Amino acid sequence: MLNDIKEVLFSEEYLANIVQRMGKQISEDYKDKNLLMVSVLKGSVVFMADLMRAISVPCRVDFMSVSSYGSGVKTSGVVKIVKDLDIPLAGYDLLVVEDILDSGMTLSYILELLQSRGPRSIRLCTLFDKPERRTVDITADYVGTTVPDAFIVGYGLDYDEKYRNLPFVGILKPEVYGG
Ligand code: PRP
Ligand code: MN
Ligand code: MG
Repeated sequence: MLNDIKEVLFSEEYLANIVQRMGKQISEDYKDKNLLMVSVLKGSVVFMADLMRAISVPCRVDFMSVSSYGSGVKTSGVVKIVKDLDIPLAGYDLLVVEDILDSGMTLSYILELLQSRGPRSIRLCTLFDKPERRTVDITADYVGTTVPDAFIVGYGLDYDEKYRNLPFVGILKPEVYGG
């Protein structure tokens, strides 16, 4: 697995620092709110697990899973719900938690869907932002760090469902994905 990594982009310690900083800011912003953290499976699980423990105000958590149709997914923008939230959203201040904001298709779909359910508020939180790749006009309210347009894996991010368990974020060797 480590042989497939060209270089480490963000160490475990660096990531922990970012997450602590985000947790502090969110705790400050949500101290008088009714926070419900919504994790978008599967990529956000590692970030979510660390971020929720960096938050010092009361909060609830829920999970949803979406997938794109076929292989033309990211360009078609067609997304379907694989697992929906369990909690009705009325009265909650939602924080949607993502690992990476790339084209923006996934988050814009989720944002529109959750908005229609009438929560008190919705904000978007992403650990990584790849603004160069954006095809939809969407920005996150909380961004850990911007990343270059490279194939990154680890800390939840996968290639072909692998490498999510790496504790750091690395750049994949092009030969691994046929680049
Ligand atoms: C990845 C990532 C984001 C999304 C970002 O998820 O975790 O959810 O793509 O890309 P976008 O901004 O272009 O929509 P993916 O669909 O690979 O599923 P996964 O989280 O299960 O890996
Ligand atoms: Mn994802
Ligand atoms: Mg993925």
